[in-house]
Amino acid sequence: MSIQLNGINCFYGAHQALFDINLECPQGETLVLLGPSGAGKSSLLRVLNLLEMPRSGTLGIAGTRFDFAKAPSDSAIRELRQNVGMVFQQYNLWPHLTVLQNLIEAPCRVLGLTKDAARERAGKLLERLRLTPFSDRFPLHLSGGQQQRVAIARALMMEPQVLLFDEPTAALDPEITAQVVSIIRELSQTGITQVIVTHEVEVARKTASRVVYMENGHIVEQGSASCFASPQTDAFKNYLSH
Ligand SMILES: Nc1ncnc2c1ncn2[C@@H]1O[C@H](COP(=O)(O)OP(=O)(O)OP(=O)(O)O)[C@@H](O)[C@H]1O
Ligand SMILES: [Mg+2]
Repeated sequence: MSIQLNGINCFYGAHQALFDINLECPQGETLVLLGPSGAGKSSLLRVLNLLEMPRSGTLGIAGTRFDFAKAPSDSAIRELRQNVGMVFQQYNLWPHLTVLQNLIEAPCRVLGLTKDAARERAGKLLERLRLTPFSDRFPLHLSGGQQQRVAIARALMMEPQVLLFDEPTAALDPEITAQVVSIIRELSQTGITQVIVTHEVEVARKTASRVVYMENGHIVEQGSASCFASPQTDAFKNYLSH
């Protein structure tokens, strides 16, 4: 099992954002998190690489296990972050570094790769994501879709076992959205586990092998992609019909 959550409760101060979350996702699957605004999708995604620390429950991910009854060690968190990559909605690229420099920075610093080895890895990813011509540009001189692809390439540089996406197609036009969808589908052939938060049901349908539907911090429905054709709850059926 690549991802396993049991009894996760998560709070922002006194406000509870996640209630008793139980979730399983086998390796190599593409799990899509759907639900209305405020449902807790981003919170749940952020728990998966411990950007949010749950108050209770257990998390197993990419071979590491956490029981939040006690605070995880910094070294366990670092190890988790090396195996679980995140692509943020705002891309979060370094503006003062070129595309290539953005890609090789973390692998050199965190994984201890030599510059040559990192450049070679970057070259392959830039080609795969059709970014080779932009390798010496600065992020601000790229379109939104190109920046999103750079952000994906940068996450893949760490060769993560799990890749998390928060709204990867928000603010992208239909053509670029289609490109991002096809990248996610290509990646799903590589054995990597992907978790994607999206508002766009079409994006979800085209990428998901598993689905989690949330409302008000609770998982309302989870299952295989067949949920789209035959939702098990009225709540999810309702959501899909909008
Ligand atoms: N940093 C924070 N501090 C306090 N409350 C927060 C914080 N982040 C989220 N929340 C609250 O937790 C709940 C879940 O938020 P979350 O961002 O996970 O929802 P979401 O499903 O991702 O919504 P959206 O679709 O709008 O992105 C909301 O009620 C939100 O107001
Ligand atoms: Mg969100």
